[in-house]
Amino acid sequence: MKKLLALIMALAMVLSLAACGSSSSDTTTDDTDTSAAAADDTTEESADDTSASTGGQKIGISMPTKSLERWNRDGTYLQEQFEAAGYEVEVTYADNDTDQQNNDIANLIADGVDILIIAAVDGDTLSQTLADAGDIPVIAYDRLIMNSDTIDYYVSFDNYQVGVLQGQYVIDTLGLDLNDTSVSYNIEFTAGPTSDNNAGYFFNGAMDTLQDYIDAGILVIQSGKTTFEQCATNEWSTDTAMENMQNTLASYYSDGTQLDVALCSNDSTALGVAQAISTDYAGSNTVIVTGQDGDIANLANIVDGLQTMTVYKNVSDEAGVTLVLAQEILEGNEPAEELLDSLDAEAAYDTESYDNGTGIIPSYLLVPWTVTVDNLEDLVSTGLYEWDGDYLVSATDE
Ligand code: GAL
Repeated sequence: MKKLLALIMALAMVLSLAACGSSSSDTTTDDTDTSAAAADDTTEESADDTSASTGGQKIGISMPTKSLERWNRDGTYLQEQFEAAGYEVEVTYADNDTDQQNNDIANLIADGVDILIIAAVDGDTLSQTLADAGDIPVIAYDRLIMNSDTIDYYVSFDNYQVGVLQGQYVIDTLGLDLNDTSVSYNIEFTAGPTSDNNAGYFFNGAMDTLQDYIDAGILVIQSGKTTFEQCATNEWSTDTAMENMQNTLASYYSDGTQLDVALCSNDSTALGVAQAISTDYAGSNTVIVTGQDGDIANLANIVDGLQTMTVYKNVSDEAGVTLVLAQEILEGNEPAEELLDSLDAEAAYDTESYDNGTGIIPSYLLVPWTVTVDNLEDLVSTGLYEWDGDYLVSATDE
């Protein structure tokens, strides 16, 4: 019953975010609409094109999908924050479809946007379309766009650190000690898709953190799935993650072998894995399940003990950093490290880590942090969440 309630609340939250993102023109594509017409008209346009302070400059925003909570949040926060700063904004959502995202971006370019902010469905598929962007500055948002020399900046979180936090959580929670090889625990990994440049960083951050314990035999991967490719989950799909875990449980754990940890790179996959564990796992121990994002449904699972932690990313801050960066670029400046002084959120300026195949892309990387059942209140402190009974929901006055 509690779970049902949590799911209903999560759905209501996604719907309310989607609703707050729509504008008077009301032309947003709904990802759940798979009709051909969906590809044609994917933009939300702000009515405000008369701002004096910004000279009516137009911001083109291309988001990957509405099907995951976080991208609804990103699209909404970006739109709200840029509009509040006086810009005209167009937001598109690509239904996780690379062709649609290329169309979306081509349309934004044709509409004469002054800057492009893009969270790629697949970072490797946009270079041809972006070759037509000419002088329009491009910010890769959250996910790096690969093999395109038109990318000016990258705004994201420290992606490797996300995996490190997940791995460290496992070490701390199980109290692992490299000098004590008398104990061993079973762990399975669920990663994101190979098409998302972030996914490898998440996986490697976790794997590198745990590697010594695996080598020592303290952590054992019964399935033998040890590489990113073996653990990858297409489109970060909850259903695929669930099916993969069901198969792993059937093949390696149905004989009573105990599963101790399911390390999942993000919340949408953690949702599926937690589901598989509750229906298909024979053991009675609590399995440590990690995640990332802090989606409402996963926060409910953390309350209910079905997920153990999530690595939280404040995407309102990510939108805020993107706004400050875009303002500087639109004023004709070339921001670098000193931009950090103008940011409200803690971030690092990185000119080493993210090479997109054409060279290093200067990056602003925000700081993720670990959320468990013990510090959910810290989410309320962000102003983005509030309690509704035992569960967190999106704050109504966001
Ligand atoms: C990643 C993103 C994560 C997660 C995932 C699935 O690129 O960094 O926060 O949301 O996509 O959407």
